[in-house]
Amino acid sequence: MTQDEASLEARLEEQEAFDPPESFVEQANVTDPGIYEEFEENWPDCWERAADLLSWEESYDTVLDDSNEPFYEWFTGGELNASYNCLDRHVADGASDRTAIKWEGEPGETRTYTYGDLLAEVEAFAATLRDLGVEEDDVVTLYMPMIPELPIAMLACARIGAPHSVVFAGFSADALATRMNSADSEYLVTCDGYYRRGDALDHLSKANEGLEGVDHEVSDVVVVDRLGDELEHSLSENQRDYDELVAENEGASVEPVARDAEDMLFLMYTSGTTGKPKGVKHTTGGYLAYAAWTSHSVLDLKPEDTYWCAADIGWITGHSYIVYGPLALGTSTVMYEGTPDYPDKDRLWEIVEREEVDVFYTAPTAIRAFMKWGEKYPEQHDLSSLRLLGTVGEPINPRAWKWYYKHIGGEECPIVDTWWQTETGGMMITTLPGINTMKPGTAGPPLPGIGAQVVDAEGAEVGAGQAGYVTVNKPWPGMLRTLYNNDERFISEYWEEYSDEGADEWVYFPEDGAKIDDDGYITILGRVDDVINVSGHRLGTMEIESAVVGVEGIAEAAVVGGDHEVKGEAVYVYAIPEDGYDGDADLEERAVQGILDSIGPIAKPEEVIFTPELPKTRSGKIMRRLLEDIASGNELGNTSTLRNPDVVDDIADQVDSS
Ligand code: WT7
Repeated sequence: MTQDEASLEARLEEQEAFDPPESFVEQANVTDPGIYEEFEENWPDCWERAADLLSWEESYDTVLDDSNEPFYEWFTGGELNASYNCLDRHVADGASDRTAIKWEGEPGETRTYTYGDLLAEVEAFAATLRDLGVEEDDVVTLYMPMIPELPIAMLACARIGAPHSVVFAGFSADALATRMNSADSEYLVTCDGYYRRGDALDHLSKANEGLEGVDHEVSDVVVVDRLGDELEHSLSENQRDYDELVAENEGASVEPVARDAEDMLFLMYTSGTTGKPKGVKHTTGGYLAYAAWTSHSVLDLKPEDTYWCAADIGWITGHSYIVYGPLALGTSTVMYEGTPDYPDKDRLWEIVEREEVDVFYTAPTAIRAFMKWGEKYPEQHDLSSLRLLGTVGEPINPRAWKWYYKHIGGEECPIVDTWWQTETGGMMITTLPGINTMKPGTAGPPLPGIGAQVVDAEGAEVGAGQAGYVTVNKPWPGMLRTLYNNDERFISEYWEEYSDEGADEWVYFPEDGAKIDDDGYITILGRVDDVINVSGHRLGTMEIESAVVGVEGIAEAAVVGGDHEVKGEAVYVYAIPEDGYDGDADLEERAVQGILDSIGPIAKPEEVIFTPELPKTRSGKIMRRLLEDIASGNELGNTSTLRNPDVVDDIADQVDSS
């Protein structure tokens, strides 16, 4: 390092605020700081700006209907179709030849779909779904990895008004069955397999195993042949080959169904405090308007951009910011099948250079991995096409932020640290990149029109620097409408904690801790419920616990998150063997397998610690905090109030990090 570089490095390390570069501001979609006031004064009509980004078949009468709180309705009376908004209207505008999706398989093959191509594919598959008997409002489950047929199937569902429920391909067979059962879904689209780090993974066997656990009749299963000869598979009676079906409908024309703004666009299951995943319901008008608006204002997307959100469509990030937001705006969106370190650790940067990516959006866990691998990988590539960077999914530490800023953005790209959730549909707390100063580690102010604040346990706003909880006291168009078939749980999970008695004012509680500074910037501190965040993925500790206690030989278990350098948090399992069983390698293996079977590899524990007892308070509650501290290798506080203090040392001795 030269002296100049060293002093630059030192300056960067100390710098706490960064202004967006002039060159960015000049071209940004949103640059007037007055937008905050404008939205405040004009609320809720300000949200017409979001709705105006869409084409409506029938214009809406009311922006917000709050007559039945907290079951808010947006853009009521309006009708539209999401696939029309993502495809037809761009084609009609002369953008038929513009790239819609640029897909890259892990082995390196690519497929480019122009808006014209994508529309044709979507119509052919929409016709196929109809042939199979799918009707408006039937939930179609899509259990697929990052292959183009996934967004095609989503848009085909949207076209005929059949809500989709995408199940992340990394989830287990059991997880698939649970979700199909909960949604009463009779149709499944899946594939034979996909590539992961050079291996051809068998996906269909997992799907088949899941289907065995479905408690109702599944009329049809459509199977995409991703792997060709690489993996032999046979189809059973109700299973049909995707390509064959679609070939029969080539050139089909399927009119987009006009959907009510409040009609369900999709369901997305996510983890909560209890063992059962929650089916988050998103709608056609509000969700799509919100995804488009935040893609426009925060990601600064323009039709001529090549944009890459390196997430998986199996999560909400991919729904809103790989598929619906960018396509609604007519942008070219990149999709990559594989992992960032295959065949080498510069894979992503090679794609950024080749495709001349303008805007790049990823998770802090990925950035921490890039940092660990070293700057020599991005340095091998010309990343100067980049204009804006984003992060999502978990808090980003200032060191990772600055590394991203310097080594990926070349100190010329603003970074948006976007806080939101499956339930919020889109971004809620983040800087606007053409307006606000950025502070590494701090997401930023609530977006214009978003009523987020940081409060204490009683709901009173906390002072600058104090820790509290995020709440949202105004509805927004992208919000979940309910939990599928469970209005009661919708209220108890999100609204009961902070809404007034008799509820004059309804307040949404996202279950995140946070603090706020003098400028109104919010720093997210993490979940305050029994949900842990592993590599930006939300996992319910109860779900994992029930998988572990389901294993023969295990009497009781507690699952907590411990700090992890790359993953943010990692899963730690503390388990008590049943009488007659030893906490040996065999039991450990079966505990891990139990988790893999019920959830999938994302929940794989860092460690399984067997103990004759779990630390409990005198009243018999498991001391989770203490178990978290042990897992994180933290200093342990006073344990004398425990019913069984002796057990603590025993456990701590076994954990690697302590
Ligand atoms: C939880 C939501 C939003 C799509 C991906 C995750 C955490 C999300 C941030 C951020 C700090 C964040 C929160 C939130 N989170 N973004 N920028 N800074 N924490 O969606 O699976 O619904 O998880 O992710 O804890 O509650 P999700």
